[in-house]
Amino acid sequence: MKITIPKERREHEKRVAATPDTVKKLISLGFTVIVEKDAGANSQISDKQYEEAGATIATNAKAAYSEADIIFKVQRPLMGSEGEIDELSMMKDGSILIAILDPMRNPEHVKAYAQKNISAFAMEFMPRITRAQSMDVLSSQSNLAGYIAVIEAASEFGRAFPMMMTAAGTIAPAKVLVMGVGVAGLQAIATAKRLGAVVSATDVRSAAAEQVESLGGKFIMVETDEEGETAAGYAKEMSDDYKKRQAELIATTLKKQDIAITTALIPGRPAPVLITDEMVASMKPGSVIIDLAVEAGGNCSLSKPGEIVITDNGVIIVGHLNVPSRLATDASALYSKNLLNFITPLVKEESGNLDIDWEDEVITGTLLTKDNKVVHERLTGGN
Ligand code: NAI
Repeated sequence: MKITIPKERREHEKRVAATPDTVKKLISLGFTVIVEKDAGANSQISDKQYEEAGATIATNAKAAYSEADIIFKVQRPLMGSEGEIDELSMMKDGSILIAILDPMRNPEHVKAYAQKNISAFAMEFMPRITRAQSMDVLSSQSNLAGYIAVIEAASEFGRAFPMMMTAAGTIAPAKVLVMGVGVAGLQAIATAKRLGAVVSATDVRSAAAEQVESLGGKFIMVETDEEGETAAGYAKEMSDDYKKRQAELIATTLKKQDIAITTALIPGRPAPVLITDEMVASMKPGSVIIDLAVEAGGNCSLSKPGEIVITDNGVIIVGHLNVPSRLATDASALYSKNLLNFITPLVKEESGNLDIDWEDEVITGTLLTKDNKVVHERLTGGN
């Protein structure tokens, strides 16, 4: 079977869905690999490196898509008049598409995959089970986002992170508050600690306390009996009383901070607003807020998608889009590995042919469309 790796064409997207390393491994599994010209350019991977790994370079999108049995992508293909070309129309009927497909926000795309009899897998729906950890794109990408958020905060902050005792005087360490302690938040805590900041963190899941403390951070949380975690380990929407008490806690904590990194998400819902206009107004000039939840509506009421806002009182609020793509080389390497780890168990004895167990939870968890139908329970109303 032929796997194609097209060039990504969506705005802000610099990643690519295979590296020379994963291309070699795909070939050893029996696949033929086609890479579209310049697909790796924004991740510092040249066509020559892909060729040396054994891939064939397709000179344009049409040539790349027309032969593919399987398509590895980062983001969903362009459809209709969305972009310069209609990638979906170039795909063979009956092919397999594996990418971050953002299906809940793009149900019309999912229907189009079904109409073309494409078997589409949304990698962000990967179940969080031990066996699938190496296929978990949310983890691999959020981890990098948490890291770069702190680096960008440090670069916007007009002061140093670590305490410095010099002959000319002592510089106090920066105070960093991380809100939302999932994968991104934990990496943000670890990175800010490594830079010498004094770090505290908050989450609605009490299980996060131990993780924060093990990284040397201070955990702060509303004292409550209310459970903030679902059976799947995600956060849930909290009661109005909880939100009021959380707002009071954040308001008191935030004014003493220099940096806030916000990562709070609730699956299937807009991101909770944790930092209000009034809280921003209470912060010191030069303070920095990095809102990693900006694409889901934002954790800060004043953050703007794709912009750096500087408020009247001098607070810098950063709302970069597609944050993992800002570390494209590393993000591509980890994402490509996730895809390789996903497809490897589906291959029949290094033949390059697939033998998929359609009942396996890794498959049922990620498969959106099959046999001309939308099949995922989150899209058919089953969940
Ligand atoms: P996420 O990206 O969905 O959310 C980020 C964080 O925001 C979460 O920790 C969440 O509890 C927190 N949050 C949501 N609403 C909040 C609010 N109002 N105030 C404060 N914090 C709020 O989370 P992510 O990174 O996807 O992790 C979710 C869970 O999955 C965690 O329990 C994590 O440990 C677990 N996980 C399990 C894996 C595995 O077993 N394979 C892999 C990665 C994560």
